[in-house]
Amino acid sequence: MAERWTPDSWRKKPVLQVPEYPDAKALADIEGQLATFPPLVFAGEARNLKKALARVAAGEAFLLQGGDCAESFAEHGANNIRDFFRVFLQMAVVLTYAGALPVVKVGRIAGQFAKPRSSPTEKINGVELPSYRGDIVNDIAFTAEARVPDPRRQLAAYRQSAATLNLLRAFATGGFANLGSVHQWMLGFVKDSQQSRRYKELADRISDALNFMRACGLNLESHPELRATEFYTSHEALLLGYEQAFTRVDSTTGDWYATSGHMLWIGDRTRQLDHGHVEYFRGIKNPIGLKCGPSLKPDELLKLIDILNPDNEPGRLTLINRSGADKVGETLPHFIRAVQREGKSVVWSCDPMHGNTITSTSGYKTRPFDRILSELKSFFEVHAAEGTHAGGVHLEMTGQDVTECIGGARAITDEDLNDRYHTVCDPRLNAEQSIDMAFLIAEFLKQGRERKAQPLPAVAGL
Ligand code: PEP
Ligand code: CO
Repeated sequence: MAERWTPDSWRKKPVLQVPEYPDAKALADIEGQLATFPPLVFAGEARNLKKALARVAAGEAFLLQGGDCAESFAEHGANNIRDFFRVFLQMAVVLTYAGALPVVKVGRIAGQFAKPRSSPTEKINGVELPSYRGDIVNDIAFTAEARVPDPRRQLAAYRQSAATLNLLRAFATGGFANLGSVHQWMLGFVKDSQQSRRYKELADRISDALNFMRACGLNLESHPELRATEFYTSHEALLLGYEQAFTRVDSTTGDWYATSGHMLWIGDRTRQLDHGHVEYFRGIKNPIGLKCGPSLKPDELLKLIDILNPDNEPGRLTLINRSGADKVGETLPHFIRAVQREGKSVVWSCDPMHGNTITSTSGYKTRPFDRILSELKSFFEVHAAEGTHAGGVHLEMTGQDVTECIGGARAITDEDLNDRYHTVCDPRLNAEQSIDMAFLIAEFLKQGRERKAQPLPAVAGL
C-alpha cells in the first residue's frame, strides 16, 4: 500500500540538487506568496495534453517537444518568444506533412528555469564558486554574491512565465498560427538558403491543398484546427518548493495538478526511486516525462513506471531516452522489451541532445549536429526493429541565429562558436539547424510510414 501523498510529502524524502538558501524564513515567505498566486495552466488543459499524448502512445500522433535548455531573465522579450514559436510551428508543419500524423506541440518554455548541475561548484582560474542553477535560483555572473540563491527570483520566474505564456496563447489562437499563414512564417529565414527553398516548396504544397479544399466547397474558416493550434508548456520540475506552491486541487475532479506548466518531467539526475522528486510526481495528475539516461537499468525503469503510472494510463508517462549516439542502440532495445513484456503504455521520445555534449577544442560546451542526428536515426531504427512507435523528439533549440552546436547545413565550426554563443546553460540548435533537423526527422517518419504501407511479401502457395 503506497503511503499517503500530499503536495509536501516529498519533504520527508532525500532530495538532490537543492539550492542552499541562506535564509529559510525568506524562502518560506516567498513560497507562501506563490501559493496564493493564480495558476499558470488549468487541469483541463493538462488533461487535453494527456489525451493527445495517449494518441502518441497508440502510434497515431508524434510529439515535438523543444525549447531553451534554460530560459533566462535577460533574454525575456516578445521577439524571442515569437521567433521561437515561429520556428517551432515550421518544424511542426514539416513533421505533420511528412509523417502524415498530427504533431503534439510542447514547448520547453514558460517555466524552464531551474537547472540540475553535475557539480555543486564551478572553478574558473583557480576561483571556486557555487554553480549557477538557473535564473530562478541564482545569477550566472561569476561572483560570490551573484551565486547566492535568492528566493525572490522565484517571483520573477513566475511573472516571466505568466507573460511568456500569455503571448504564446495569443500566438496560438489569435491568428498567427493559422495554417493559411504558412508562407508568412518564412519571414525569419535567411534569403535563398537551402532551408528557405525547401520550406517554401512545402508551404506551396500546403497552400495548394488548402485551395483545393476551398474549391471543393469546404469552408476552412469554420475549422478551428486550421485557424489555431494547440500549444502546451513543459519544464523540468526540479525546484520542488516552487512546484509545491503551484500544486492545486482541480475543483471538477478533486485531483491534484501541477499548475506551473502542462507537462513536467523528472531529470536524469533526480529519478531515484525513494527520493523526493519521484514522490512529488506520483501525486500529480499531469502528463509527465522521465529522462532515461545510460545509467538507468530496465528493472529500475519498470519500478519507476509502477510508481509513476500505477494505473497504466495512456498518455500519462513519456520516456525521454537520452543515451547518447554511441549507446542508444545498446540500451534502448532493453527498455523497449521490458516495457512491452509488462504491457505498459508509454510514449517513446528521444532527447538526442544531453548524451551528445562535448567540449570543443576552443573550450566551448557544444554538440555536433551529426551526433544529434545519429542518435535520432538509431532511435527510429531501434523502434522499427522492435515494432514500436518512435513517438517523439525532445530538442534544445531556439528561434535565434546563435552559434552553439557545431555542424548543420551551414557548417558551424569550432571557431564560429565564439560569435554568438548565448546560452546560459547547454548548447541549442539555432533556427536553421532546428528546421534542418525537422526535415531530417521527417525523412525518418516518412520511411516509417512507407514501411507500414508496404504490402506483405508474397508467400509461395498463397
Ligand atoms: C535538460 O533537459 O536540460 C537536462 C538537464 O536533462 P537531463 O536531466 O536529461 O540531463
Ligand atoms: Co540542457
